[in-house]
Amino acid sequence: MNWNDCIERTNTHSVKWSFPAEDVIPMCIADMDFQVSPAIVEAMNRKAQHGIYGYTTFSDRYFESVISWWKRRFHMDIEKEWISFSPGIIPGINVLLSVLTEPGDGVIIQDPVYYPFYSTIENHGCSVMKNTLLYEDGEYSIDFDDLEEKASHPRTKLLILCSPHNPVGRVWTQEELMKIGSIAKRHDLWIISDEMHGDLVYKGHEHVPLFKGDESLVERSILCAAPSKTFNIAGLQTSILLIPNKDLRDKYNEKLTGYGLMRPNVFGIEGTIAAYEEGEPWLNELLMVLEENKQYVLNYLEQHLPEVKGITPQATHLIWMDCTELGMAGEELCTFFLEKAKVKFDEGFKFGQSGHTFVRMNIACPKERIDLALRRIHEAILDYRVNRNIMK
Ligand SMILES: Cc1ncc(COP(=O)(O)O)c(C=O)c1O
Repeated sequence: MNWNDCIERTNTHSVKWSFPAEDVIPMCIADMDFQVSPAIVEAMNRKAQHGIYGYTTFSDRYFESVISWWKRRFHMDIEKEWISFSPGIIPGINVLLSVLTEPGDGVIIQDPVYYPFYSTIENHGCSVMKNTLLYEDGEYSIDFDDLEEKASHPRTKLLILCSPHNPVGRVWTQEELMKIGSIAKRHDLWIISDEMHGDLVYKGHEHVPLFKGDESLVERSILCAAPSKTFNIAGLQTSILLIPNKDLRDKYNEKLTGYGLMRPNVFGIEGTIAAYEEGEPWLNELLMVLEENKQYVLNYLEQHLPEVKGITPQATHLIWMDCTELGMAGEELCTFFLEKAKVKFDEGFKFGQSGHTFVRMNIACPKERIDLALRRIHEAILDYRVNRNIMK
């Protein structure tokens, strides 16, 4: 794999690269500018050459590829029956909420957090209950007292856990997961554990799937995962929900069928099998590239731009950047980067009030592109300092 290739993505219907302004570097949207594993490309070619793209279903080989991935990567046994389908994690969470909640129920999230969680909760007439993460000395942790308090509210039904956490990049430890689990059990809550970033973990950290952390949680939890983030195949729209609770699983599958969402994409099944059976060497290389990119960005910010603090991610191909010292927030902050540096970041305020002075940077692209983006924001900040008479 050549991880330095800057592959043209404009005019390919890419969301990330369809940004209207010219000459803007998109460092937003969590997909990667890297070509996927050759095994996936071959699988796509094989299917394309077959020339028939009719309704598609699952096979034993598909289920085995999923089961063996969990076994190899997380040393965890999952049962075939648990494996349910969704075209995406967010559609899956929506279907789950339609089964698990009534309008007026409370759903806890830990902001700043992946912003579609908010609209998903609101779609079902539920209230968003924020268990805002604690932020101290550049590090994030869970406010367990507040979580307990929110969980104890009589209308609170469930917690949507983001594990590892997007955007702050935390990998929750087994101890933290057990504390979350015991609060959920004490207050009879469901947990939807969105583990979409669970394969993208940096050296020195280990992602613990929720069920593995605490087996007594199996019956009250749903684990969401997918090859889409890990292998850069989000466009194939094939995600996995592990639902061990049979009653919930039956209701989920019935709703999914009711919405007409139960059939997988013809390329998605082939892509998933190729990824899980043959994609590991590619993923291992990717993790090394991301490690280098992460370190490069963090060092650059520390050396040249002390007013932008990169939060060291333990997982994800994203860096959450604290721009509080720039003295701008919300739209103004993003417009500054967009107009003065011609770099598009994800707006921190979308992830919640606690992200108002932050932006999120995607580092899954060739180093050359990262370097160009960093040099552009450096120049923009130099000008900004001159205009405000700030010397650094
Ligand atoms: C934590 C998390 N959950 C869900 C999604 C979106 O999943 P999908 O596109 O499968 O709905 C993302 C995408 O970035 C994400 O970061």
